[in-house]
Amino acid sequence: MSKYIPIQKAIAKGSGNVNIHGWVHRERGSNALKFVVLKDSSNLIQCVFERGKFESQWSEIDKLQVEAALEITGTLKKDERAPTGYEITVESFKIVGTSENFPIAKDQSVEFLADNRHLWLRSRKMTAILKIRDTIFTAIHEYFHKQGFYEYHSPIFQAVQCEGGSELFSVNYFDKKDVFLSQSWQLYAEPAIFALEKIYTIAPSFRAEKSKTSRHLTEYWHAEMEMAWSQFKDIYGHGEKLLKHVVKRVLERNLPELAILERDPKKLEPTLQKPFVKMTYTEALKILKEKCGMEVEWGKDLRTIEEEKLTQLYDVPIICTHYPKKVKAFYMMEDPKNPETVQGCDFLAPEGHGEIIGGSQREHDLEKIKARLRLQGEDPAQYEFYLDTRKYGSVPHGGFGLGVERIVKWICGLESIKDAIPFPRTMERYKP
Ligand code: 4AD
Ligand code: MG
Repeated sequence: MSKYIPIQKAIAKGSGNVNIHGWVHRERGSNALKFVVLKDSSNLIQCVFERGKFESQWSEIDKLQVEAALEITGTLKKDERAPTGYEITVESFKIVGTSENFPIAKDQSVEFLADNRHLWLRSRKMTAILKIRDTIFTAIHEYFHKQGFYEYHSPIFQAVQCEGGSELFSVNYFDKKDVFLSQSWQLYAEPAIFALEKIYTIAPSFRAEKSKTSRHLTEYWHAEMEMAWSQFKDIYGHGEKLLKHVVKRVLERNLPELAILERDPKKLEPTLQKPFVKMTYTEALKILKEKCGMEVEWGKDLRTIEEEKLTQLYDVPIICTHYPKKVKAFYMMEDPKNPETVQGCDFLAPEGHGEIIGGSQREHDLEKIKARLRLQGEDPAQYEFYLDTRKYGSVPHGGFGLGVERIVKWICGLESIKDAIPFPRTMERYKP
């Protein structure tokens, strides 16, 4: 076992001899003393080198710069003036990796930080976001397993579109012309409900989105579920319970990280305490008109700006249902009461964050699906494997997809989705 303990554990110990290792977060020195704030993945702590103890090594100590890696043995004591309330008087140390002129300093431009993303990941902000991201992934796995879902995997190379052909990435697959990166697991998940009934995944999805917005990535992590024997209300019921579970876990585990991000946890509490707001698309248009002065013609999809205004009115997510059939995917089930609308739902996160989940009950009438594919310019023959799901023991079923970075953005209160993933991919950025 390593003799080194996490800085957070050292702080919890409160006093005495400790061994820690980490990287220089800040440093300042005088002729007699050098102060180094050391960080590891758990926290920060101030360490003091006294020249009297290290005369022969003083030039090395004096030269220590931001991001140098150190092992330190020393004596811990409380010190109100230190950044995390404790200080270590260094007794012995080893420089494991030197560092010179670390490029990232205060107040650098968003572009500069994006070019140096591999280094910016070490920042306190990114470290906090990455920890919350970890909680969210774990919570999604927990929720679905607790609810009796199996984890199941669909291919990333796919030969059909699921969410509209214009947003597909083609792949040079041994010179074949019809291979694309997955937009969704769905068409390869529906065949598996006949084996496993309740399934979920967390996997990358790809969208050739030409939108340069604060919520679109070309590569994102997609948590999706599909279940047999469902009714529409079961689908959005799981969406609501899943989001509550995720928020609950973040509030249990990540208050220190929310504090680093200056994200007020009180803003997330209503999501735990209150039922979500449920409205139809038609009702949403009415509210947009009456409360936001925005007129949307019935039949048009809600745009980012409209979702933003609508969600600013609430402190919990909105479950918006019954969108017009013509703006939604071919597989969504018509509403028997109004066949111009579908039994589909978008979950819209509060405070202006907008769509975080898209889901639906699935159409199980084979002829209706074929007709809607043709309407989109697709050849149903390409979808033969998928259409078999409606031929051999078809049952009512449905599912949803949740954009994990959209949830990270909302929970962390981020301006841009780009900070919700370690190396964001957008229309303009694919490096480093
Ligand atoms: O609404 P979407 O397109 O639905 C589907 O893909 C369904 N096949 C899911 C299903 O029923 N299994 O995408 C689902 C979610 C969106 O609500 C959004 O959160 C996220 O995926 N998403 C994106 N996230 C980041 N960047 C993008 N470009 C995204 N496009 C969709
Ligand atoms: Mg959608």
